[in-house]
Amino acid sequence: MSSFYKRLIAHKIIKCIKGNTIGKEVQQIENCIHNLVQVQPLKKNVATTSGCQFSVDTSRLSACLNGSSQNLVKTTLFDEKDDLQTFTDGRWLNIKVPKGSFIKKVVEEIRLVTSDYGTNNKCGDTENVCVEFSSPNVAKPFHVGHLRSTIIGNVLSNLLEAAGHSVRRVNFIGDWGTQFGLLSLGLVRYADLEKLKSDPLLELFNIYVKINQDVKSECGTAPEMTSHTYQEGLELFARLEKGDEGMKVLWKMVNDLSLAELNKMYQRLGVHFSDTMPESSYHEKTEDVLIELHKLGLMRYDDHGVGYVQMPQEETIGRASVVKSDGSSLYLTRDIASALDRQKLFKLERMHYVVDQGQRGHFTKLLHVLNKLDVPWADHPIDNVHIKFGRVKGMSTRKGKVVFLRDVLDEAKSRVIESMRARSTTRVSENIEEVADIIGVACIALQDLKSHRASDYTFSWDRALNMKADSGIFVQYCHARLCSMLSGCGISVTDDVDVNLILHDIDLQNLVHHMARYPDVFLMSLTRLEPHHIVQYLFKLCHLINAAYSSCPVKGEPLDIAQARLLVFDCSRQVIVNSMNILGLQPLDKI
Ligand code: ARG
Repeated sequence: MSSFYKRLIAHKIIKCIKGNTIGKEVQQIENCIHNLVQVQPLKKNVATTSGCQFSVDTSRLSACLNGSSQNLVKTTLFDEKDDLQTFTDGRWLNIKVPKGSFIKKVVEEIRLVTSDYGTNNKCGDTENVCVEFSSPNVAKPFHVGHLRSTIIGNVLSNLLEAAGHSVRRVNFIGDWGTQFGLLSLGLVRYADLEKLKSDPLLELFNIYVKINQDVKSECGTAPEMTSHTYQEGLELFARLEKGDEGMKVLWKMVNDLSLAELNKMYQRLGVHFSDTMPESSYHEKTEDVLIELHKLGLMRYDDHGVGYVQMPQEETIGRASVVKSDGSSLYLTRDIASALDRQKLFKLERMHYVVDQGQRGHFTKLLHVLNKLDVPWADHPIDNVHIKFGRVKGMSTRKGKVVFLRDVLDEAKSRVIESMRARSTTRVSENIEEVADIIGVACIALQDLKSHRASDYTFSWDRALNMKADSGIFVQYCHARLCSMLSGCGISVTDDVDVNLILHDIDLQNLVHHMARYPDVFLMSLTRLEPHHIVQYLFKLCHLINAAYSSCPVKGEPLDIAQARLLVFDCSRQVIVNSMNILGLQPLDKI
């Protein structure tokens, strides 16, 4: 049931209860009523009837307004011709909404608020929210988990921003830690400066692989600590932590090379951040964290001198270790310091870490410690703070197993070019590379976003690039075709139309009903922090547009009918654009 109907019902209820003593201010009721109205879903397709009748059970009204969740409204369909009308019948307040009035309302609203459609009926307070996402490591490869975090985090930030929240988009780059010492050692042992210059990412990766092979061959199945290469890596990292100048130069070089490459990727993906907060900037602040934990009497030490905070569920997830025996900082400690810093800077009411579910234990520890330190959002349910997601299986390119994100994006692009060339209707030629890259990104992103984020999924090129249904390329084609129909039909869009002329166009009416649901779907994605609701919505929208496109032509029809249809098509274009924008995709006008 779309919120259009709900709002209409709410409006009529308010009219009927004004002056009635139900113990609340009318204004207050107006603000919250449309959330309270419980409506039974319609079983039959409303497009094939004359309209909907809603019957409000006024005897349940006060209970519902006081928070009870009983069914307040019964929905039926009617077939006889009728006008919009309200009438009472005993305890029932009946509202008849003929479908012409409904179509008119939906179309009017979309035309009025355009790019705000779906997000314009804001309810609730706006908050200061931080979404931390992407957060790759510079001395290790950017893996598929980071790609998922980047794509999902971007959509969640878009959703929250569109809902009016003030959002900080933070990238917590992993540029500190033991792996850095190892990589530095690898650079000393194996670096080829020429290769490092021509393809830094590849060369850094090769060095990373070689040095880890050294460790493996020395320690075999024994712990890494038994390898002297690993020990040497640790020493180098300790030198970096103490501020060794030579190590700092090396560290900066690796960082600069990796960041330049990462920024290219973010640009291709259409992702931006408001704040890049590298882990390295917190290692000095971990000292303050330890002092604070001492003051609160929370610090304990084990026999090896490792400092930790006791956890209630220690048997299953281990201790919350915060300082190594040599005094150096840990990932958890830097995370604590960073959270405290963000809290101070941004005065956050909410915090969302978009990180793979393998790190649940880490975030459980983080929240436990932050709660002791009185961070306001640390007592939120962990599922609202650690926004976890599942694994991607089977992602490979023609080169083999995926190593670099850029290989995935490049391959998506070249596969799109192949399929565009094979299609006779393809109209782009001059900037085919650029267009194919945008489509390729849409394919990768939508395959990732189309199911529940917590589920694992198996990557498939065929599915990602399916022209016929439910893929990025399918959506882009639908949008481009709509744009070319709108610009090539010979008439322009006008609001001055009689929507009753499309009362027999079932496919267009199904489309209008679907468009009317967009604000609700947006809200559902927002409250559950689940992008897949919008993705599935968008796929269905495209299917409905394609159906209406064949059964309700514009060109060659009598002008008044053509104009009424064109107006609905133009509104559907707006809804595609709005939902694509939330999903971080760039709609193409021409393919
Ligand atoms: N850099 C980490 C990794 O790749 C992810 C960081 C997640 N965010 C955080 N605040 N711990 O594993």
